[in-house]
Amino acid sequence: MIVGSPGWLVSHEGGEHARLRTIVAPAFSNRRVKLLAQQVEAIAAQLFEKLAAQPQPADLRRHLSFPLPAMVISALMGVLSEDRAFFARLSGEVMTHQHESGPRSASRRAWEELRVYMRGKMRDKRQAPGDNLLTDLLAAVDQGKATEEEAVGLAAGMLVAGHESTVAQIEFGLLAMFRHPQQRERLVGDPSLVDKAVEEILRMYPPGAGWDGVVRYPRTDVIIAGVDIPAESKVLVAATSFDPRHFDDPEIFDIERQEEPHLAFSYAPHSCIGGALARLELKAVFGSIFQRFPALRLAVAPEELKLRKEIIIGGFEEFPVLW
Ligand code: HEM
Repeated sequence: MIVGSPGWLVSHEGGEHARLRTIVAPAFSNRRVKLLAQQVEAIAAQLFEKLAAQPQPADLRRHLSFPLPAMVISALMGVLSEDRAFFARLSGEVMTHQHESGPRSASRRAWEELRVYMRGKMRDKRQAPGDNLLTDLLAAVDQGKATEEEAVGLAAGMLVAGHESTVAQIEFGLLAMFRHPQQRERLVGDPSLVDKAVEEILRMYPPGAGWDGVVRYPRTDVIIAGVDIPAESKVLVAATSFDPRHFDDPEIFDIERQEEPHLAFSYAPHSCIGGALARLELKAVFGSIFQRFPALRLAVAPEELKLRKEIIIGGFEEFPVLW
């Protein structure tokens, strides 16, 4: 797929990874995330209205969960959100592993296309700099902190890492609320529970829920918490979510759970850099969607929802709803 491509943070290691990560870190600082907060709320509200204007049943994926993260990443980058359908399609394609069977050339082609797109946007950004990620990346190139190819990869990687992951999380979170009406009522009755509800959604449905999810393969034999892990073994990053030593009754969805750290955003140097932004997006949705659509429900039985197993991160083909 895109492993080894310059600027794809996940595949850089050690000092090189730290150098590249430092370049994008300011875009996720408290200050920038706070600046984005209002925009995220506005984007969610705008999409709620668009959804409300659709004939029922409507595909919530099409009208909310898919466009929302794409529009937020556009704001983070400082690119026009009109391009979102284009880059969101490509980022989905990049994340497609085709069950590790078929050729991965489609994924590689999409990555190259995304890089071409980002290169163009960075060129345009020279004429209109601002308080955004692309401007930071141009400055890093000018200061010799990154090559142009690395900067392009960092930008394209953000589209890939920040899109489908958030789409899936919105959909799994809604499904959880539909399946647990009492939890939903509690949230509606006390919207200040939204922070905890978001953490519980992340714990219960970490990336790739219903599938393998995010995996790592150690290069050498390692021992973690007393467990021998031979080199090359497949390690599921977020598997601790269901560890009864860590969470009481882990299989129960409980938005008032005593908060314990989970691994939905992973851990250590490669942990998710966009965690704060993702939380903001989830809060914008779960903090008001049931107020805006009090009778929101699935238009099909939950078993009829088709998981997107070809995507590393998960999510559904469609998410038909009534309200
Ligand atoms: C709810 C949504 C999200 C979830 C559950 C999530 C989860 C994760 C996880 C588990 C990793 C670690 C991957 C690994 O260990 O190999 C990761 C890495 C990463 N995420 Fe997220 N993510 C989300 C949203 C975002 C957003 C919104 C952005 C940016 C706009 C983002 C950018 C990244 C980047 C750049 C990395 C690579 C970090 C590195 O290797 O240093 N993510 N994410």
